[in-house]
Amino acid sequence: MMEKCIEEISDKILMEIKQINIVQAEKQHFAKMIEVANEQLGIDYVDKSTLENLAASPEKVANVAVDEKENVLGFSFGSLITAADLTKQLKIPREKVKLVAGTADKVGVFKTIAVKKECTKLGIGSRLAKDLITQMRDYAQVICSVAWKTPVGINIEKSYKKIN
Ligand SMILES: CC(C)(COP(=O)(O)OP(=O)(O)OC[C@H]1O[C@@H](n2cnc3c(N)ncnc32)[C@H](O)[C@@H]1OP(=O)(O)O)[C@@H](O)C(=O)NCCC(=O)NCCS
Repeated sequence: MMEKCIEEISDKILMEIKQINIVQAEKQHFAKMIEVANEQLGIDYVDKSTLENLAASPEKVANVAVDEKENVLGFSFGSLITAADLTKQLKIPREKVKLVAGTADKVGVFKTIAVKKECTKLGIGSRLAKDLITQMRDYAQVICSVAWKTPVGINIEKSYKKIN
């Protein structure tokens, strides 16, 4: 699959990437994560204190996609919250919380994902999404996602659809 994608976009420098791993985001990845975020999400959308906070909290999950040389190609992060926090954190009206969360105690919130522009459309976003959701599912019965809708579509929709 990956080989096929790489063939299809032979003009991309990503051709050189042999292996992509999804690993937990650590301090040494932060600067590169911020570079990817600045490029794809806008300057200061993700900052160092947000990442330090993520790394320090057991309620938060953050991963990076790295190539065989440990270059950061993308990242994703989310957090585990209570159903009651859906109103405060995701602006879900109080009367709709039950509709979203059902009887779940914990809800996983998929907050942010970004892949380096030159490395997009290779399935890296889907892999980052899949791993984050799998990790959050260990603790949360329901997963919600933040997404952006533009005339092109919903940014993360296709990556989610590629997840089995
Ligand atoms: C969304 C994103 C993470 C996908 O990463 P990726 O590695 O390209 O993901 P995949 O290869 O698994 O899937 C990409 C698919 O999503 C589609 N896609 C990407 N951005 C999109 C958008 N804004 N609207 C609709 N579809 C989009 C691509 O066209 C592609 O579809 P295709 O496979 O039919 O060509 C990446 O494009 C990105 O970083 N975008 C900017 C940041 C962003 O919008 N983040 C999500 C909000 S927090």
